[in-house]
Amino acid sequence: MPLKISIRTAKPLEVSGDVIAIGVWALPAKKKKDAPDPFAALDRGLGGGLAKVIAKEDFKGKKDQQIRVGTPAKLAAESVLLLGLGEADAMTDAEARAFAGKAARAANGEKATRLVLVLPAGFDNRLRFIAEGLELGAYRFTKYLTGDRKPKKTLKQVEIVLSSAVPDGAKKALTLGQRIAEAVNLSRDLSNEPSNELPPAALADAAALVAKDHGLEVQVFDMNEIQSRGMRLLQAVGQGSSNEPRFVHLKYTPRGESKKRLVFVGKGITFDSGGISIKPAAGMGEMKHDMSGAANVIGLMAAVAALKPDVEVHGLIAAAENMPDGKAYRPGDVWPSLDGKSVEIINTDAEGRLVLADALAYGNALKPDLMIDNATLTGACVVALGNTCSGWYATNEETATEFGAALKRSGEQMWRMPLLEELKEQLKSDVADLKHTGDRWGGSITAALFLREFIGSTKNWVHADIAGPATTERAVGWNPKGATGHGVLTFLAVVEHAQAAATEPAAT
Ligand code: BES
Ligand code: MN
Ligand code: ZN
Repeated sequence: MPLKISIRTAKPLEVSGDVIAIGVWALPAKKKKDAPDPFAALDRGLGGGLAKVIAKEDFKGKKDQQIRVGTPAKLAAESVLLLGLGEADAMTDAEARAFAGKAARAANGEKATRLVLVLPAGFDNRLRFIAEGLELGAYRFTKYLTGDRKPKKTLKQVEIVLSSAVPDGAKKALTLGQRIAEAVNLSRDLSNEPSNELPPAALADAAALVAKDHGLEVQVFDMNEIQSRGMRLLQAVGQGSSNEPRFVHLKYTPRGESKKRLVFVGKGITFDSGGISIKPAAGMGEMKHDMSGAANVIGLMAAVAALKPDVEVHGLIAAAENMPDGKAYRPGDVWPSLDGKSVEIINTDAEGRLVLADALAYGNALKPDLMIDNATLTGACVVALGNTCSGWYATNEETATEFGAALKRSGEQMWRMPLLEELKEQLKSDVADLKHTGDRWGGSITAALFLREFIGSTKNWVHADIAGPATTERAVGWNPKGATGHGVLTFLAVVEHAQAAATEPAAT
């Protein structure tokens, strides 16, 4: 259930809730002589009693500074949270989102059902991001908890309080922000789902449900159709499991004339045991998240449906379970791809690039202006960039600039990686057109180079390896523990940018 978010103009003493969270701009580095102390005013506004805590904790409103005051005397709340915002002119939309996310997460942590979020001046144009943050920060995956483990209270209502008049369009901005965050939360839900509950067919059902709810077109190919269409790499990976693979094609068509065609592709390995090249036991359960790229595509398509841009958007999902079995594909096998190349299998644990190869070849046939795939593809990418940053690759500078701009707006961390031509050597096979893995070194790059072989005549392509940030071991910013939905906001920013570019008057 989405949060009930309302907005009004009020003074802090006029509000009541379980938790009151107050955003506070940082004190200027050099205080002007005789300038009134803004914190003294805040303290008075709150009925006094905070000054001591502020002084004791050395709270200066710096970014990420946070203090909690339990049962404040004059406020109708159980606790007050002061959240530092840093300097007003330096705040990004993503930081505004993270601030609201932290407030919502803290409220949930305090078993609050009603949160009051007090915003200082400067948020009029950021209400969408505040709503995104609230909905993202309130997210928890509690579906499988029973009895005492089931949270008795969860955040349900948020009242946003401004000191100035509520701006025009506030409601619209808040609703859009909520719809977008719900789409990210859908991606998180799917990724967090255990593999026994979400085999490829169930992932395809989830995509079909989004299509039904949002009026998108959808096609689902089962094992027979995957085979008959020649998606043999997807078949190879999927045939070792009694849970058959699926391929999903979602399509959003704008009402008016479409100005651009975008294709998004996601890796949907619902469980990655490694197959015959089986993984070690430690941490294998984490591989239930190996369909996070596909979950992102489903979430993105829901967000696109809410946004209704003037561009055509396709979402492609290659879903399979990678298991060892009498029917499983093996190292040494040679399999054909959808676009007719032969691939020598080296390690059945490098399954993601195989299912993506067929999906990219399928995507190329749609003649996209831009194709973006995302996948929890390599451990090597996590070694390179850590757990909080994805690696991305682009085929040309123009596309890279576009994707870089989307990243700036989303605030998601991704670092551009090089498509080093000299590593292509490693993908040469003696018996087939290509091997699907190279040496140990540069493993994320050789995976990207392998994928590039299947984009055909598509000029503008981005590959995002989200293996690290698709999940997090601890809550940070707007992300809770577990699946993050990392990627959806950036891809949506790409769509929004394509829409803006499409509506710009043509240069004369
Ligand atoms: N799903 C994994 C990659 C992965 C690793 C995702 C860690 C999230 C966290 C992928 O299918 C895989 O197993 N990749 C291999 C490739 C290797 C065999 C060339 C890897 O990275 O070890
Ligand atoms: Mn694998
Ligand atoms: Zn995998």
